[in-house]
Amino acid sequence: MMADKVPVITLDGPGGAGKGTICLELAAKLGWHILDSGSLYRLTALEALQKNISDERQLAEIAENLDVEYRCNEGQLQILLNKIDVTEAIREEAVGCKASEIAALPAVRAALLDRQRAFASAPGLLADGRDMGTVVFPDSRLKIFLTASAEERAKRRHKQLKDKGIDANLPQLVAELKARDERDTGRKTAPLKAADDAILVDTTNMSIDEVVNQVMQMASQRFGTIEV
Ligand code: DC
Repeated sequence: MMADKVPVITLDGPGGAGKGTICLELAAKLGWHILDSGSLYRLTALEALQKNISDERQLAEIAENLDVEYRCNEGQLQILLNKIDVTEAIREEAVGCKASEIAALPAVRAALLDRQRAFASAPGLLADGRDMGTVVFPDSRLKIFLTASAEERAKRRHKQLKDKGIDANLPQLVAELKARDERDTGRKTAPLKAADDAILVDTTNMSIDEVVNQVMQMASQRFGTIEV
């Protein structure tokens, strides 16, 4: 399998556990590529919303044929869909909700599988998602399951929004996160769960640096040549 040829670190876990931030920091330290698999579900959701599509077969067709480009612009990741910058648009709550809905559909997940595996290229890949260690890269030699309490994750999201000047309601954020956790965990196809061989990292009381250092230590043990 492809994952054998290139080192892959999988980071799975619920929304708001810090996977995106940790992946970016690790990618900078290791010089590896990133797969933000959630963005593929969000891009499919955005195009589906634009075209008002909710039929599974048509959704899978959208997923299969996504015209997407990831660009690095002054250290920031920019995402283009059909040549249009949608970096901000795909983070909107409505798109996240639709993404969570369509992510439960087997045909959509199947349509995105090869595209996700194609991200594995030298010198290595950090794969961020819900089923990276269980379905997409089952042969990965380092699987992390990153988690944090729903309250802590909501607090982080609240701060993120506040920094952007958006006023959000904390109890409502907690409720939304819990609802999404339930949907992602309860679905039949590729539910959110730790792979049997994943290492659980609870970031509730950890700083970003602490998490990054811990994963770097693990990477160094698994892949040998990495300096930490
Ligand atoms: O990580 P995120 O919030 O960008 O993910 C958006 C949605 O996509 C989320 O509800 C779960 C789903 N998802 C998934 O089912 N499998 C993945 N590998 C990544 C995301």
